[in-house]
Amino acid sequence: MAGVRLRLYFVTSNMHKFREVQEMVAPHGIMLVHTPLHYPEVRAESCEEVAREAVRSLARVRGLKRPFIVEDSGLFIDALNGFPGTYSKWAYEKIGLKGILALMRGARARSARFVSSIGYYDGRRLRVFTGTVDGTIAKRIRGESGFAYDPLFIPKGYKFSFAENMTLKSTLSHRKRAVELMLKSILMK
Ligand code: IMP
Repeated sequence: MAGVRLRLYFVTSNMHKFREVQEMVAPHGIMLVHTPLHYPEVRAESCEEVAREAVRSLARVRGLKRPFIVEDSGLFIDALNGFPGTYSKWAYEKIGLKGILALMRGARARSARFVSSIGYYDGRRLRVFTGTVDGTIAKRIRGESGFAYDPLFIPKGYKFSFAENMTLKSTLSHRKRAVELMLKSILMK
């Protein structure tokens, strides 16, 4: 990458998230460095709290370079009172897309939102940036791109799921919005 302004360490084991964020920050001269460290995830209702606590625990890890980020995200479905929410990874592994569709069987109201909270720590200040995108849950699995719940999520105002149209995802996803807020804050000098 020509003209690296900043090396940013992304602590994650999810390479889908890593690649998405890498694509978003690279044009701003930020080199994202994959840091596959494991950290405990607290039980909390909001992605913001999970991300904040993850940063707090990682800030104590010796040798972890700064600035670093973590990201916590999830799919919040209104008809299921916000489930799977911060348990999205677990629910995906346990019941998958078919399980979510089964829970939604007969539900007329299909509104949902994806939430992404990025926790950022530069050694002095902890900041959390949250992005959301509203949409609906499809009635069937649609598309093959992306990961996890992308084939079920149709962003508001569009006809395609994220998995059917990755350009749509990269333009208006929850993660894109959280990254934009972070960039605004850290590149403002
Ligand atoms: P965590 O942030 O590691 O707890 O995991 C979040 C989980 O939410 C992921 O493993 C996915 O199951 C789901 N998720 C978060 N963001 C996305 C996305 O952009 N597309 C599809 N599923 C997502």
